[in-house]
Amino acid sequence: MQLRYLQADAAKHETELLAVAVVQGATSARRGLAALDDALRGAVDRAMQLGDMRGNCADEVLLYGAAAGPKRVLLLGVGTVDRLNPEVVRRFAGRAVRAAERLRLTSLTVSLDGLPGVPDEARAQAAAEGASLAAWSFRELKAPDGDEQSTDVMAVDFIGGGKSEALQSGVIAGSIIGRAANLARTLQSRPGNLATPSHLASEAARVAAGVNLDITVFDEARMYEEGMHAILAVSRGSTEEARFIILEHRGGKKREAPLVLVGKGLSFDAGGISIKPAEGMESMKFDMSGGAAVIAAMQAIAELGVRANVIGLVPSSENLPSGSALKPGDVIGTLAGKTVEVINTDAEGRLILADALTYGARLRPAAMIDCATLTGGVVIALGHHASAVFGNDDALVAEVTEAGEVSGERCWRLPLWDVYDKQLQSTTADLQNVGGRPASTITAACFLREFVADAKWVHLDIAGTAYGDGTLPYQRKGGYGVPTRLLIEWVRARAT
Ligand code: BES
Ligand code: MN
Ligand code: ZN
Repeated sequence: MQLRYLQADAAKHETELLAVAVVQGATSARRGLAALDDALRGAVDRAMQLGDMRGNCADEVLLYGAAAGPKRVLLLGVGTVDRLNPEVVRRFAGRAVRAAERLRLTSLTVSLDGLPGVPDEARAQAAAEGASLAAWSFRELKAPDGDEQSTDVMAVDFIGGGKSEALQSGVIAGSIIGRAANLARTLQSRPGNLATPSHLASEAARVAAGVNLDITVFDEARMYEEGMHAILAVSRGSTEEARFIILEHRGGKKREAPLVLVGKGLSFDAGGISIKPAEGMESMKFDMSGGAAVIAAMQAIAELGVRANVIGLVPSSENLPSGSALKPGDVIGTLAGKTVEVINTDAEGRLILADALTYGARLRPAAMIDCATLTGGVVIALGHHASAVFGNDDALVAEVTEAGEVSGERCWRLPLWDVYDKQLQSTTADLQNVGGRPASTITAACFLREFVADAKWVHLDIAGTAYGDGTLPYQRKGGYGVPTRLLIEWVRARAT
């Protein structure tokens, strides 16, 4: 997939398809198309006069050009001016790619004109992200010509829109970020029999070699030496060996405290002995979404040359029932030294994260963010439109929330009050791994807090946002790559 910024006149540019945004009540589409041939300009005017194109978000008009210039012009309504933001631009570019797919085109041009109020660089970045995300598909496990309906959009040119330097660097950044999110989606999409912990580790190594990250991978023997008993306990029921993946980007000063990103890499969650119902269990291949996002974000952080030290940690394991599996009531150790009574083996994410967070806190981070498909409860609380965000530092929570707004991967804060800790009291160990049904998303976060020591820390519960049916124009059914874009945005904002 190739994304380019072209400094050229959109109306004269030879292209199969030119997509142009139209805001509500605007004549702005005409501004960007002033040099169109008379026939086409007349058609644009008439579509607006007749009210077929009012600039509403659902409005879509396809027009045909003459011999020179764009062969087709697609007008896409984008709503009111006061609601324009990078997410509107992402969706606009995504719709342009979807239209090209329907027309079986492999290339198109997207105009960056007609979207007032979004600064040049942010607008170009968002457009490149939207196009790149929309063009992604997961076909590696299907026969090459098995699906005749599908066409891959291979190239998108962006054109017009303002200061070319800012637009150019926006397209480059957006293309790197889109590619990273798509890597996360590809890893998410791979089923549990392929995307095992060792597969994730070798994919992380491939990424590291490609973009010059340092990588260290702990196998189970090494984890035992380190004292990572919680990860090992979860992994005991599986014949697949667990892995602990450490990716490192040294873009900051030598002694500068790192930013640490932690992602749950549970490659398949059957629940263990506390086994899940069969219905929908196949979607538990997505339980490594946090880990995929961390690996992917590290790739982009390296490619963007972010001036910060960033360390990505991915504890990765399967959670299966077997004769050697962890049992309800078992008491296990952790890297932190605390003991945990495992009431429910399906609350495994917090166990593998406990060791990862302890490891991360010992790196003396400036800040640490974990992301995890941690609880079903967050889907009940926030549905599929926001991740839950928790933290022990208000300023850090605000930074992450802002990165969510900017990246279009929104989150909403839930409380971490001490009163909830009572639900985790155990009669036999330092704490138990479940807090009952009430506020299960919050008590899961309270459990994690026990393992971050004095680090400034934020937790994102992405169980409702990491994958889904594909409702936005740039999504498809399956993995969304959330929160890859948020993590990259947060690290970039921290570094400037
Ligand atoms: N991976 C699941 C959480 C999950 C649920 C992710 C639905 C995506 C969609 C996690 O390991 C889990 O099983 N959580 C349990 C914990 C419970 C047993 C305390 C939950 O939230 O139901
Ligand atoms: Mn589980
Ligand atoms: Zn899980």
